[in-house]
Parts: sequence; C-alpha cells; structure tokens
Amino acid sequence: MAKSPIRVAVTGAAGNIGYALLFRIASGHMFGADQPLILQLLEIPVEGPQKALKGVAMEIEDCAFPLVKGMVLTGDADTAFADADWCLLVGSKPRGPGMERADLLKDNGKIFVAQGQSIDRVAAKTARIAVVGNPCNTNCMIAASQAKRLSPSQFTAMVRLDENRGRAQLAQKAGVDIGQVEDLFIYGNHSPTMFADFTHARIGGKPAADAIGDEAWLKTDYLPAVGKRGAVIIEARGQSSAASAANALVDHVRDLTTPGKKHSVAVASGGAYGFDDGVWAGMPVISTADGYEMVTDYAMDDFANSKIKITNDELVSERDTVKELIG
Ligand code: NAD
Ligand code: LMR
Repeated sequence: MAKSPIRVAVTGAAGNIGYALLFRIASGHMFGADQPLILQLLEIPVEGPQKALKGVAMEIEDCAFPLVKGMVLTGDADTAFADADWCLLVGSKPRGPGMERADLLKDNGKIFVAQGQSIDRVAAKTARIAVVGNPCNTNCMIAASQAKRLSPSQFTAMVRLDENRGRAQLAQKAGVDIGQVEDLFIYGNHSPTMFADFTHARIGGKPAADAIGDEAWLKTDYLPAVGKRGAVIIEARGQSSAASAANALVDHVRDLTTPGKKHSVAVASGGAYGFDDGVWAGMPVISTADGYEMVTDYAMDDFANSKIKITNDELVSERDTVKELIG
C-alpha cells in the first residue's frame, strides 16, 4: 500500500543550503524513494526572499518529482510548521571570514525562540527537529526550551558534516577508500573545540592510530583540521559550505530514520561523557524505530576527556550568553 505523505518544513528554503537541499529531499534521498512528501517552505516575509522562494518552488515543479504531493510557500512560521512531521531549521545568518560561529548567537538565537514556540503550537506532537543554523547546538537548545509539549529528545543538531569531514581526512591520510573508516564520532560543539574521536575510530578494521602510525599528527594536525574545516571553506569560497552541509543533513535525517544506524548527532546530553546536563552535545547515537539511543559506553582516556572538557566548557559558556533566550 502506498505511504501517506509526510510534512517536511524547511526554513531558509531560498538560501544556499536550501537550494542544495530541497532537490535531494524531493528526489527521495532523505526519506526514501517510496515516501511522498508535502514541502512546507519558510522564508523571511520580505519581498526578495519570498520572490526567490517562488523561483525555487518553480524549479521543484519543473523537476516533476513524483514524491512531491504539495508545496506550501510562506513567510509565517505557524503556516510552515503546521502538522509538520520534520522541521529542518536551516534559516539564519551564516558567518563570514574571520568570524566564529558563536559570534552569530545574538542575531540567530532569537530566531530559534520564535520558531521553537511556533513548533510547540502547531507541529505534530511526534515532530522531529534538526537544527543546522549556527551555532547549531545552542540554537537547538534554545528551540527545545520553548517547546514544552515536545520532548527534548525530539530536537537534534547537526554535527554530521564534521563526522563526514573527519572520515574523509582519515581516509586521505591512510590512503584508503572512505568505506574503510569506521566508528569515527564527533563529541561536543559544532565549533573548533569539537572532538573527532580518533581514539575509537577504525581504519580497515585496525585502530586508526595503528593504521595512520603517527599519533602526533592525529592530535596536533588532524583534530584542528577537522574543527576548522568550515572556516577554510569560507576562506576559499567566500561563503560558507552549502552543498556539503545539505548532504550532511540528508545523512543526519536518513540515518535517524534508519533503525540500527550508529552516527554522530548533537542531542540533549543528559550528562553523558561528562557533558553538562542540559547542553546539546555531539555524540554517537543508535537510531531506533521511533528515535535514538545515546551510545554512552565508549571508555575515554585522559586525552579524550581533556578534549571533551574544553568543548563542554564552550557549550556551557554559549548557554550563559543566551540565558535570557532559554524558556
Ligand atoms: P544563506 O544566507 O544562504 O541562507 C539563509 C536563508 O535563511 C536566507 O535565505 C534567509 O533569508 C533565511 N532566513 C533568515 N532568517 C530566517 C528566519 N527567521 N526564518 C526563515 N528563514 C530565514 O545561509 P546558508 O548558507 O543557507 O546557511 C544557513 C545556516 O546554516 C547558517 O547559520 C550557517 O552558518 C549554517 N550552517 C551550518 C552547518 C552545520 O554543519 N551545522 C553547515 C553549514 C552552514
Ligand atoms: C561549516 O562547518 O561549514 C558551517 O558550520 C559553516 C561555518 O560557519 O563554518
């Protein structure tokens, strides 16, 4: 029997990530080739972005995607999130050269207050939310704090781009196919303090440190290279990553809806791995039929714990910065 359409809300739909994302969703890469969809697309309610949104929607029509059963284009959050099964929160300012993502907090944080409240009012009770807009961990915490009807576990933020970057860089260094790199998970903040845990990663079935044979490189070159990759892309492109971010969101949501998948997601930490209870921290999760379970049993050595402490301290300080935005 054919599946019923699900409602997928996407914010910032006429932006750079939106443009790289919507066609992948519409062609079935996120929810599967047999899952019809209604796209509910939000842009800021001013002429330029609304006009651009219409243009994007025309292009979606022109693709004649069989899965797209309807589109809603709007500048009103309650219309965009009405009965939504998934809310993909992309819309917000990106950083420019020389900025850190945390510099966006004051501008972007308030977007997530209003959108969290709107999701609370109108989205499906079982809605799942994925936050991409930076700084995404803290924005996710802000949105979740406004949505008391939903559980914090329904709110996730994206560290999958970092996992993908970390795997690609290990594969390059080891000179192996990307499929040989397993069990590389991202802990903490989507920022240069993130910890890409090479200590449990495996390359070709061996511990990554053995396969690479250069622990100093892992500690002093690899970790900062993964953590600062976003800034390197901004420097090269003149604007922030878009296609790779959209691809990572496809991976994030597809794996969250594939039971048994183990992958990196920023979730309400619940105190796992020594993270402060109440911050959204990247860590491995295993997807289940209707959500995920945190994987909390990796034994961390002193080096890993010292890195986790640094990224946790940053998450706590971001939370302090926005304390007036937390509901
Ligand atoms: P962009 O400027 O190209 O597009 C953002 C769009 O959002 C714009 O069209 C803008 O009009 C819209 N927007 C702004 N405020 C809005 C609101 N309140 N409601 C609805 N729409 C709104 O930016 P982009 O390159 O698409 O990046 C979007 C965000 O994603 C940025 O914050 C960026 O830093 C972040 N990002 C995160 C990751 C990650 O790994 N977590 C990766 C890349 C980018
Ligand atoms: C990224 O990691 O590419 C994004 O978060 C954009 C940025 O500001 O670096």
